[in-house]
Amino acid sequence: MPVSAKSAAEQLSIKKSSGNESQRYRLYREHKFLRAILSDLENRIARADFTDLSQLLEIKNKMEYIFGIIEGHAKHENEIIHALLRAKGTSIVDSIEADHKSYKAMFEILRGMLTEILNILETGNEVELIAKGYEFYIAYRKFIAFDLQHINAEETLIMPELQKYYSDKELKEKIDFPVYEQMSSDDMIGMMMVLFPHMNINDKEHFLSDLQESQPKKFLEAWKGIAPRINAIERSVLAEKLQLEAIFVSKTID
Ligand SMILES: [Fe+2]
Ligand SMILES: [Fe+2]
Repeated sequence: MPVSAKSAAEQLSIKKSSGNESQRYRLYREHKFLRAILSDLENRIARADFTDLSQLLEIKNKMEYIFGIIEGHAKHENEIIHALLRAKGTSIVDSIEADHKSYKAMFEILRGMLTEILNILETGNEVELIAKGYEFYIAYRKFIAFDLQHINAEETLIMPELQKYYSDKELKEKIDFPVYEQMSSDDMIGMMMVLFPHMNINDKEHFLSDLQESQPKKFLEAWKGIAPRINAIERSVLAEKLQLEAIFVSKTID
């Protein structure tokens, strides 16, 4: 059956915009980082030799690191972002929060599958290990599909809803600024070091200008720490836009 142009556009979350939304303050930029680490792990699992203990332990460690980050991220969304929409009497976040519960259940299943593989490894049944490894890969890949749908809903449904009820100033001051208030300059540098390799210059400007606006004193130290890690072209553009001292370094630290 031919797919109509309309439904294909819907599948891609393309909708006619007034152009206004694109000017608005936007959250969820850290999804780019989450996508990068989740797909790196998918690629690692795809290449894994499930008969090799060291590779299984490497995957287990990476998986636990990612699960921890996603749980923290979901908690922030439930407690801070969704609370703002619930306060307006909208239940649009119900399905998103149900997804967050599903994440936890999926983490348990994936953990269990990997534990089973580790147990089989002790008996050394290679055929079974390869079969169970493939099942694990398929399950993890399906989890990635779930995650993609989830973050898509957050960015295309929840974000416009937040913009409908709150001004840009309110969104900044109610969501991220209280978090920045709790951070030291070193925490800010650490956050940007983790996020920036997965972001474009516009995302970097967003984080830098928010930190500058909310915590001007701590930010100056943070800028000194992060600037040498941003490539020279972007660094000078950002310094000019944010009216910051251009920090010249002989070589960008990677
Ligand atoms: Fe979420
Ligand atoms: Fe999210």
